[in-house]
Amino acid sequence: MNTDLENVKQAKESFNSILDNKKYAGIIKDDKHLSLLLDLLNKSQYNKILDIGTGTGYLAFPLAEQFPTASICGIDIAEIIVEKNNATVKEKVIHDLSFEVFDGLTYPFSNEYVDLIVTRYAFHHFQDVVNAVQQMNRILVKGGKVLISDPMRNEKDNDGIIDNFMRVKKDGHIQFYSSNELDELFISNGFTKEKQIITNMKFPFAKQVEYINLYDQTTDKEKLLYDITNDNGIIWIEHIDVGNTIFTKQ
Ligand SMILES: C[S@@+](CC[C@H](N)C(=O)[O-])C[C@H]1O[C@@H](n2cnc3c(N)ncnc32)[C@H](O)[C@@H]1O
Repeated sequence: MNTDLENVKQAKESFNSILDNKKYAGIIKDDKHLSLLLDLLNKSQYNKILDIGTGTGYLAFPLAEQFPTASICGIDIAEIIVEKNNATVKEKVIHDLSFEVFDGLTYPFSNEYVDLIVTRYAFHHFQDVVNAVQQMNRILVKGGKVLISDPMRNEKDNDGIIDNFMRVKKDGHIQFYSSNELDELFISNGFTKEKQIITNMKFPFAKQVEYINLYDQTTDKEKLLYDITNDNGIIWIEHIDVGNTIFTKQ
């Protein structure tokens, strides 16, 4: 199996088992962050919205309320949550909101199909981000927007210290991108940067020896980049910047 497919398989197995778990949902739920994203989008109207890596539809369901005339689709590799989301749509009789499984690599939409793409806390799982951004460009109408919300690698973290920690989880983490890398990626693929608001997040890792070993191998200078601490054997990332960035297709 090629590496892309293996990574998707790993992410799919992991997310199929955790997305529906209340503890995990509690970790990625952040109502203040959700309001900020909805506010960032409320200046325009949209006809067709795509949420990539939608998970429980944490963003897609409120978007359906905020834009009742838009057609909204959430896609994900984890089929169990997609099925559950579609059942909720049916039960609550929500107009024009649907969820689809996809292979994690190819967006199943025709050219210039959507006018807004959103993706929250998922971009770091995308296998080939150049291909992903080129596909976003392909399926967006001219002037269409992408709102990408994802933790960012500190510009001084040249060795990807944060990614070493994140990969222990084996959930298909590829890498976090720095703000400059994101700009370069989108701008070189036909987008302009419209706006960026930085928020931040903190989270613990599970109590595992692998995290403690990594912590012990990390220098104090590196620890300071994300304020990495050891609280009685639980390793915490106390501060990571989250970029909430809007790029517009030229
Ligand atoms: C941290 S969750 C975020 C879910 C949701 N966007 C939210 O904000 O609650 C990451 C999501 O990305 C999905 N994912 C993992 N690999 C992916 C890929 N290659 N392409 C698209 N989504 C992927 C996972 O299944 C999961 O639903």
